[in-house]
Amino acid sequence: MAGVIEIKSAREIDDLRASCQMAAETLLMVGEQLRPGMTTDEINTLVHEDTIRRGAIPSPLNYHGFPKSVCTSVNDIVCHGIPSAQKLRPGDIINVDVTTLFNGYHGDTSATFYVGEPSAEARLVTEVARKSLEVGIAVVKDGARIGDIGAAIQEYAEKQGCSVVRDFVGHGIGRKFHTEPQVPHYKPGRDAANPRMRSGMAFTIEPMINLGTWEVDVDPKDKWTVRTRDRRLSAQFEHTIVVTRTGCEVLTRRARPLANSENIDLLLANG
Ligand code: MF3
Ligand code: CO
Ligand code: CO
Repeated sequence: MAGVIEIKSAREIDDLRASCQMAAETLLMVGEQLRPGMTTDEINTLVHEDTIRRGAIPSPLNYHGFPKSVCTSVNDIVCHGIPSAQKLRPGDIINVDVTTLFNGYHGDTSATFYVGEPSAEARLVTEVARKSLEVGIAVVKDGARIGDIGAAIQEYAEKQGCSVVRDFVGHGIGRKFHTEPQVPHYKPGRDAANPRMRSGMAFTIEPMINLGTWEVDVDPKDKWTVRTRDRRLSAQFEHTIVVTRTGCEVLTRRARPLANSENIDLLLANG
């Protein structure tokens, strides 16, 4: 029913967690395989085969006509980048957004990776995006309002000199890939719907953070690829979470740190 946000039972959350953990493992694997010279089509193949091997289905494939099994969004691409023969070059940043359908439930998670050594700008926008997701997760709790998430993210990201994309939002998730509520990453207007979070609600938080303007354009030819209007860099991280009485559980939390993303100082120091 429109306007109603599903409250999931403990059993339903167990099923959602299983698909979320598959997505998290596939994303970890991609980070570990990522190399300069690799094409985004090769990432698509890695994700597709890993997902099938787990007895799951890649949710993006044929979703509203999306032609591939994962979204790969390089540099000024904000989201919904289509894997292609494009080769990754040292200095690129790439968001890989994995969604896995297993046992009837979708699990959705993404991260931005560094290809080789990042520029200062690439590192800034990526680290602000990483922290923006954390800042959003930190306000989740039974009784808080969905709008508190975006308010916290916008305040943090703008203080760092970055901007927050407004045209794409987080979303409820479960048996449907995208459902209610919508989860903006900016402070909602006074007249916007702003429901309270309740224990058992599951949704994604997935801030898209830009170095320059927040405005974006959808590619007029492929109708999917979203770019920053000023063609400056954009980065994104995404988790699927479920609200609890005292906070939330990050259903897509990772069993180990991401390669080529977290601890990049250490990685660079070790060559
Ligand atoms: N995974 C994206 C999200 O976070 C949605 C991708 S839709 C696709 O909501 F069709 F482009 F795959
Ligand atoms: Co999502
Ligand atoms: Co996603």
